[in-house]
Amino acid sequence: MPIPKAELHLHIEGTLEPELAFELAARNGVVLPYADTDALREAYRFEDLQSFLNLYYELMAVLRTEQDFADLADAYLARAAAQGVRHAEIFFDPQAHLARGVDMGTVVEGLWRALGTGEARHGVSTRLILCFLRDESAESALQTLDAAKPYLDRITGIGLDSAEVGHPPAKFREVYEAAAALGLRRVAHAGEEGPPQYITEALDVLGVERVDHGLRCMEDPALVERLVRERIPLTLCPLSNVRLRTVDTLADHPLPAMLDAGLLCTVNSDDPAYFGGYAGDNFDAVGTTLGLSEDRLRELARNSFTASFLEDDEERRARCLAEVDAYVF
Ligand code: ADE
Ligand code: ZN
Repeated sequence: MPIPKAELHLHIEGTLEPELAFELAARNGVVLPYADTDALREAYRFEDLQSFLNLYYELMAVLRTEQDFADLADAYLARAAAQGVRHAEIFFDPQAHLARGVDMGTVVEGLWRALGTGEARHGVSTRLILCFLRDESAESALQTLDAAKPYLDRITGIGLDSAEVGHPPAKFREVYEAAAALGLRRVAHAGEEGPPQYITEALDVLGVERVDHGLRCMEDPALVERLVRERIPLTLCPLSNVRLRTVDTLADHPLPAMLDAGLLCTVNSDDPAYFGGYAGDNFDAVGTTLGLSEDRLRELARNSFTASFLEDDEERRARCLAEVDAYVF
């Protein structure tokens, strides 16, 4: 049994495996421009974030009904559970669906059909985080938050994703303020491809409680010191970094140096169907390739629960942490 862990950086649309993509395409009468699943897998060679995003948005065409979103989420929960995930905080990208005529209710209620019973059926508790696409306008983000208002009992927080460079966090100040006033938790992708200043801006202007990726903080020692002092969690995604060429090889990943610096790092999968691995695969890969000790792996598993938004269920957090402490490698 793999070590118990929480997954805090997971785009549900990025869990769409080729087999399910073709099944949903057939169900919905959508023609994909790939002959079969092998041909589609061949397209999984990315130069950078944008080349991945192009395929990620293209394949979303197969997601049309509540049942499609339920099937997507259920498939993720089954795979995550098998890899030791006990709690998952799940991103979704409503603007990418609204633009295709799929409304907020279809997405949220569809996901909820699977997530609402995820703990009972798979032993995985979940929270939903609505992400704004940073390459869309600030106005569009505000409209999206408005469209989400009837579903806030299902949504724990907001995030910011998509093409980072040229879209600094400050563009979204207003929608983050509005979300905070609604009681939503705040995270944002920053420092994946964008510069360390975007991390600082996400903290200072958007008031984020966690930074997604945050890898490039290592270029700014004063920022590292601040992140350590303020105990800001970073949701790292090592296999994603390799596939999107943020690092040259996994052996070059700065995770060991980040842990040595005292940063509160977590290990996550980002878009596992595209990047070659789910949460447990990421743990295994960093354990093996970066030679992390059992103590370090236990620290990463502990961090995942410490950094999670389980303030509304401290009993579960404590139970999961106790399971991590009792785990025998
Ligand atoms: N959307 C899905 N995956 C993403 C990533 N790794 N970075 C930014 N936006 C994303
Ligand atoms: Zn991401």
